[in-house]
Amino acid sequence: MQMDSKVAMVTGGAGGLGEGIAKVLAQRGADVAVADIDLHGAEEVARQLAQYGHKARAYRADVTSRDRLQETVETILAEFGRIDVLVNVAGVIAATGFEDTVTSREEDWDVTFTVNVKGTVLASEVVAEHMMKRGAGKIVNIASHAGRGGGAGGGAYGASKAAVIHLTQSFALELAPHSINVNVVCPGTIWTPMWERIAERDRRNDPKKASLTGRQIFDQAILERCPLKREQTPEDIGNAVAFFASDDAFNITGQSLNVNGGTRMN
Ligand SMILES: NC(=O)c1ccc[n+]([C@@H]2O[C@H](COP(=O)([O-])OP(=O)(O)OC[C@H]3O[C@@H](n4cnc5c(N)ncnc54)[C@H](O)[C@@H]3O)[C@@H](O)[C@H]2O)c1
Repeated sequence: MQMDSKVAMVTGGAGGLGEGIAKVLAQRGADVAVADIDLHGAEEVARQLAQYGHKARAYRADVTSRDRLQETVETILAEFGRIDVLVNVAGVIAATGFEDTVTSREEDWDVTFTVNVKGTVLASEVVAEHMMKRGAGKIVNIASHAGRGGGAGGGAYGASKAAVIHLTQSFALELAPHSINVNVVCPGTIWTPMWERIAERDRRNDPKKASLTGRQIFDQAILERCPLKREQTPEDIGNAVAFFASDDAFNITGQSLNVNGGTRMN
């Protein structure tokens, strides 16, 4: 599972899971392009990656705009020479005001499908254009345990992640003739800024949780939903991504891998 001399582009790499994934790839020898709408955060992560001794640079990228993505990818190609691995991490839980709601609103459907679904599609198409010319590449998408089955209150987010699992299979079929593998990791429950928003929503809307901190609500969720009773970490997800991105996964495509402590087994 070594990534020596591979070039990886990680969208949503400025924090949370993206940061953890970028670190695992860099630790295993990859040069990493950290691409995020938050350039400042991406620069901070790229600075930290430098400790692993490989090339790491930050780029401003908005995955919802094909034109902006094209510019970003062209700059990465000019500076790194190629992209071997694309990891589609950029994602959102909902629109502004989500913390005061108990069900998905129209704006939540809009933003989750624009960023999580269209963003994954656009980044994959733009980078695949380059990979197809080389006849090689690995694309790893990030969905969620929420995409494995319905859940009250988070309908838009879960449906957008189900779409990511589905589109992974379509891209895997379309890109197989070009020797490009496309797989998806479905993470469980990880303490990141996204989960802080989920915990805050629970705290505001569930009287039983009103006096708990966000972290206590998260810990309770782990105990309730996760058979292994352990929180997952960004590094856990990075390890799964590194497997799909490695030569060990040469014959694996169109597959989804749960990294969720047993929260869902389908
Ligand atoms: N945290 C969890 O428990 C969990 C569980 C399952 C799946 N996920 C998924 O993992 C991914 C990362 O989640 P996280 O918890 O680290 O969230 P996060 O909010 O901490 O990080 C999301 C990152 O995506 C970036 N981003 C948002 N919109 C973007 C855009 N248009 N273009 C480029 N970058 C953009 C943000 O700036 C941020 O750096 C998401 O796809 C999320 O759905 C998270």
